[in-house]
Amino acid sequence: MAQKTQVGIIGAGPAGLLLAHMLHRQGIGSIIIEAQTREAIEGTIKAGVLEHPTVQLLDELGVGERMHAVGFEHHGIELAFGGKRHRIDLHELTGGKSIMVYPQHEVIKDLVAAVLANGTTIEFGVRDVALEGIEGTRPSIRYTLDGEARQIDCDFIAGCDGFHGPSRQAIPAALRVEHLKTYPCGWFGILCEAPPSSDELIYAQSDRGFVLVSTRTPTVQRMYFQCDPSDRVDNWSDERIWAEFHARTEGSDGWRLKEGRIFQKGIIAMRSFVCETMQHGRLFLAGDAAHIVPPTGAKGLNLAAGDVVLLSSAIVDFYRDNSHQSLDSYSARALKRVWRGEQFSWFMTTLLHDFDGEDTITRRFRRAQLDYLVSSRAASTSLAENYVGLPFEGRA
Ligand code: PHB
Repeated sequence: MAQKTQVGIIGAGPAGLLLAHMLHRQGIGSIIIEAQTREAIEGTIKAGVLEHPTVQLLDELGVGERMHAVGFEHHGIELAFGGKRHRIDLHELTGGKSIMVYPQHEVIKDLVAAVLANGTTIEFGVRDVALEGIEGTRPSIRYTLDGEARQIDCDFIAGCDGFHGPSRQAIPAALRVEHLKTYPCGWFGILCEAPPSSDELIYAQSDRGFVLVSTRTPTVQRMYFQCDPSDRVDNWSDERIWAEFHARTEGSDGWRLKEGRIFQKGIIAMRSFVCETMQHGRLFLAGDAAHIVPPTGAKGLNLAAGDVVLLSSAIVDFYRDNSHQSLDSYSARALKRVWRGEQFSWFMTTLLHDFDGEDTITRRFRRAQLDYLVSSRAASTSLAENYVGLPFEGRA
């Protein structure tokens, strides 16, 4: 069975869904295919911070209502080190900007509902996805659904299928450079039933390693501690987890993390990855298909949104003016924001984590940098403007 559309989108993550929605608003048709089920993509626990430009974008697209109703707007974050907590006033330092704690799977639910409501097809549970003819003017996506061979013929393919998807591999290896850094640590993440321990996120550095105290709802908290990437969830009883959290976060001010029933545990890997180029012929990559960040800067979904803002407007330019100009420069323009987010995520990661075998001078440098960040307005402002998110290209 063959279907025709203007843009064939591989992947119903934040990038693919946002793209379909933005294109539809400009009268451009698309079809999304997704390997997982709708329940799986709407239920997978990922990170939870939306930058200021991402919040604005979701509002402009008319999909921000639930985010404002159940998400939490935060005006600051805390950096904890040396037994003390230090507040970074994001709002004051950035001229009134803030971040939104609203988990990725909730964004996905909102976007799936919006995309289906506007009549766009999403085919879930597809297999054997292959990209064809991307060097010509009429590319196609072949796949199977319930064992039946299918095909989408389109003008453009958007590869929004994450780090492990087939899209990136469709760019000839000789034409792409893949930059990869694997960090010698992972994050052990939990969800627990407890009241919030803090009004704002706490990024805590200690000699035992990093901790992040985040939140989900008034009764569900999200927290992470740095672990060995090869460690296993089974090695960590609830008692051991709480003992580790307390040992890493408690200082001289008497503040103590609130415990509760842990109902989800998982270990995530930490890496920085960028694929240069993000385009080939009629194929354009967006989001994790082209770049991965360690979660410390909370940038993953936000970088995907930046890609899609550029890609959707380049596709709109093509249909409106029959011009390839914005499409041709897509990768170069997208990578500018991507590299900034990558560098910031690396900076936050190396600032806050301790790595085995480090020399003492590296540890002292880290502490000097932390002291500077919380005592200099210039340094705090730099952290704040990166954390709330730099503007999408062409937007204020
Ligand atoms: C989260 O709430 O899952 C979260 C928040 C901030 C991060 C990473 C993850 O930097």
